[in-house]
Amino acid sequence: MNIVIFGAGGRVGRAAVVEARRRGHAVTAVVREPARYPDGTAVAGDVTDADDIARVAAGQDVAVHAAADLSADPAAFFTTAARALAEGLSAAGVQRLVAVGLAPVLPGPSGALLMDEPGYPQEYRSFYLGHAAGLDELRSSHLDWAYLAPAGDFDHDGPSGHAYRFTDHGDPTARITPADFALALIDEAETPRHRAATASVTTPQGT
Ligand SMILES: NC(=O)c1ccc[n+]([C@@H]2O[C@H](COP(=O)([O-])OP(=O)(O)OC[C@H]3O[C@@H](n4cnc5c(N)ncnc54)[C@H](OP(=O)(O)O)[C@@H]3O)[C@@H](O)[C@H]2O)c1
Repeated sequence: MNIVIFGAGGRVGRAAVVEARRRGHAVTAVVREPARYPDGTAVAGDVTDADDIARVAAGQDVAVHAAADLSADPAAFFTTAARALAEGLSAAGVQRLVAVGLAPVLPGPSGALLMDEPGYPQEYRSFYLGHAAGLDELRSSHLDWAYLAPAGDFDHDGPSGHAYRFTDHGDPTARITPADFALALIDEAETPRHRAATASVTTPQGT
């Protein structure tokens, strides 16, 4: 398949690029400044710009959105990106979008959003709400989207188990490596199981 990955220079984006290329897909790795990526395979594009998206998405089968800009207002960034993706991907004829989500905005053990569960840390709530606003934009789009979040958080140092599973609720203690999470992203890109739907991803042993 032809897969375009936004945020391809980030921690999750890099893992998605590696996994997609390992499976033999043709990957267009989109970053804002290709000169910062020495392997020479990245292309320039801004995930908040519909024209950029339409340009790099031309001829692609599916898009992955792993971009995040911690220097921007979260609600502005994630809503603008979701709207630009809806417009730009549609212009390019790409229907399928697999987005990297945020655990706190998906259901926790009680069924309430994880960020509203008792004791959940609140210091980054504006970031959670920004992600949630972007998810709302996806919900109102015509894209064939999936929003996959780690059930708890990423483990950037642990060993990869080369496996994952979906779980129906988040767990603040759950951890998954970006490499294992990328298995879920690229599986969803290849064979959609979640359509206009969210999902939490954990390890086979996780909650
Ligand atoms: N517990 C959780 O649920 C959890 C934990 C961590 C992360 N996440 C989510 O996972 C996703 C990926 O996170 P990450 O840790 O991989 O982030 P990261 O390492 O900061 O990477 C994000 C990438 O986004 C790119 N980017 C920023 N603005 C962009 C724009 N306007 N257009 C195109 N690309 C842009 C940046 O690339 P360049 O600078 O190269 O352009 C950066 O490399 C985010 O949505 C994040 O919120 C969830």
